Amino acid sequence: MTTAAPEPKGNMGQPVPRYDAVAKVTGRATYASDTPLANPAYAFLVTSAIAKGRIDGFDLADARRVRGVIEIFTHENAPKLKESKLFSNGGYASTTIQPLKSADIAHDGQIIAVVVADSYEAAREAAYRVKVNYAAAMPAATFDSPGATAAAAKGQNGQFKEDPRVGDFARAFDEAEVKLTAAYETPTQHHNPMELFATSCAWTGDDLVIYEPSQYVHGLKNGVAGQLGIDADKVRVVNPYVGGAFGSKGSMTPRTAIIAGIARRLNRPVKLVPTRDQGFTIATYRAETRHEIQLGASRDGRLLALRHEGMEVSSRPDPYCVGGTKTTTRLYACANVDSLVSIVRADRNTPGFMRSPPEVPYLFALESAMDELAVKLAMDPIELRRINDTANEPIDGKPYTSRSLMACFDAGARAFGWSQRSPAPGSMSDGDWLVGYGCAATCYPTQMAPAAARVRLQRDGRTRVEIAGHEIGNGAYTVIAQAAAERLGVPLEKVTVHIGDSDLPPAPVAGGSNSTASTCSAVMMVCDKVRQRLFRALLPNEGLADRAKETVGIGQTPATQAARSGQPLDRDKAFEALGADVVEDYGEWKPDGAPLDSFHAMHQGQMRMVGGDKMKGAIAYAFGAEFVEVRVNRFTHEIRAPRLVGAFAAGRIMNPRTARSQLMGGLIWGMSSALLESTEIDARTARYVNDNFADYLVPVNADVTDVKVIMLPEQDHRINPAGVKGLGELANVGTNAAVCNALYHATGQRIRKLPARLENIEI
Ligand code: MOS
Repeated sequence: MTTAAPEPKGNMGQPVPRYDAVAKVTGRATYASDTPLANPAYAFLVTSAIAKGRIDGFDLADARRVRGVIEIFTHENAPKLKESKLFSNGGYASTTIQPLKSADIAHDGQIIAVVVADSYEAAREAAYRVKVNYAAAMPAATFDSPGATAAAAKGQNGQFKEDPRVGDFARAFDEAEVKLTAAYETPTQHHNPMELFATSCAWTGDDLVIYEPSQYVHGLKNGVAGQLGIDADKVRVVNPYVGGAFGSKGSMTPRTAIIAGIARRLNRPVKLVPTRDQGFTIATYRAETRHEIQLGASRDGRLLALRHEGMEVSSRPDPYCVGGTKTTTRLYACANVDSLVSIVRADRNTPGFMRSPPEVPYLFALESAMDELAVKLAMDPIELRRINDTANEPIDGKPYTSRSLMACFDAGARAFGWSQRSPAPGSMSDGDWLVGYGCAATCYPTQMAPAAARVRLQRDGRTRVEIAGHEIGNGAYTVIAQAAAERLGVPLEKVTVHIGDSDLPPAPVAGGSNSTASTCSAVMMVCDKVRQRLFRALLPNEGLADRAKETVGIGQTPATQAARSGQPLDRDKAFEALGADVVEDYGEWKPDGAPLDSFHAMHQGQMRMVGGDKMKGAIAYAFGAEFVEVRVNRFTHEIRAPRLVGAFAAGRIMNPRTARSQLMGGLIWGMSSALLESTEIDARTARYVNDNFADYLVPVNADVTDVKVIMLPEQDHRINPAGVKGLGELANVGTNAAVCNALYHATGQRIRKLPARLENIEI
């Protein structure tokens, strides 16, 4: 075992190397734009240089003169597409703003023309020569911009159903001995996955194949088919590997259907690889948010009143929001809770999911406020959380299926050396450096959605697993292979996994940290079906009465019992008895509480995601505690974060190697999100300024010196058959608050607006 491959503790699988490791490090893993096409044409996008107004006309003469140009598509000659609803309102689209539909401009960087040429270089050259005459209007850039409008999120966004409240907040806050009211702000951020927002579309007759990095191939397939007005069975989406996504590839963006339409018009495959800066406006992003938190507590630290008001920016036409109050109102015991989420509409592209969408900004506010309250109470911030820890969430009183929050705080505190902290701000230093220790809680809902799988087992143990899951760097291939190997009792090397292709049995979006729970639950269920057939051959005396009972769901046959109990199977003998060499089965799994139309929806590329606060009779979350050491140079105000420690409990850990990698990446991103990342918006033009990797700051190795990940053993039998809570989005939550809490401890200055940079330190 090594640091990268931690020794498994209770309820953890083996830290086997990644299934796709060799393919990736040898360059054999094919990403969407690596796929060879027969005689492709190359597309290059022209995007709007204004954020609001109209296109008066194009001058294409110069562009057309570039040798190799095939056609230039604008709203005047582009293929017509059908509309698609916003993903969060039950559709497939990341935005309802359609490219090349009309002369109207709704945001900076909107796709306004597509140049197609025989080579990438010719398409690019011609695109740069396209001249556009705009009739520009004054855009609203963000909060407080003239023309921006605000309204409650509830009722606008299909996924935001309630503003949680309970008790009488106003009275309890009024009567509380200790009160805190504070406002917090988080910036615009962009996902910036390494792999660009490429797409290649190739038609064979009426059949379309799309090579595109997607977190949801069945969603994309159905969404594009809907926009083209064709049968979804005619569309196939292929992407065996996705070079990072973080939410940006979860829903259908406007580029795909238009490229598919152009490929059909030209009767030639078309390949599009947009640029990095175009990715800032043709896909989604994490919108800037504002928060007001009010906490009322007794002198001994019990929370009596909590209010969280959040505001988020969205585009003019689309009511996107992340709405994290469902989490922040339920995290701690408190009898009087109130909340409100509002959406502010501005002339911007529509935002979208970005890793741990609601919890990252919303826990920044709550976990900063908890630290501020601890200061007011002169109490250790961990003790404040312990006093308000709860087995039941306060809004509906439902029990957490399992909750190891304080165990995480205790383990993290030990590893970090929290007891060495002298509580007074500014009291720890090392030469020119002020030293601060900070901590915060993290949590993320355990979500699941229906999934289907096909499993084929051969007599010699070779196993093929098919499921349209997604390898976005999360270790999907690896954990699916482990689930099948374990369940079938075959060596891991004998398992091949096929994912990332919409011709495979449907799986949900690789988002909301549901992938491992959903795909492994489905694969394990189908493995049990395979085992059942083999046990049935071994147990020929299985009674008809047993089978009849099983059919109506009031009992189990001995074969089913044997299959599901994990009883070892003599494979050779079973195949012998069966008189076959191969057993193959297909099955559809749905989590408890999923609605009746779940399987129907699954085949339409629609998810019925359940879990988290939406679970019936219980609430399911993964938890963790994060600790950060910061150092602030007392003369230059340079900020460093030399140590990050996170302790997490997330149910069954399928693979401690891939899990640690996810958690480590999350911690680093959380630190980056607090200290570095921010998309700057020019308030006058509503345009992104730092839309490149040089000016959009992300950490490099020198910024990350010591990261420690602790995984606590945790068993949760209630959540799903795999016992997995999901952790892809757990570790980058709360880090931002832990960083700012540490900055307060180092300097005595509270940073309530991210990012926290040296120019914001006033000591
Ligand atoms: Mo994640 S934002 O659910 O890919």
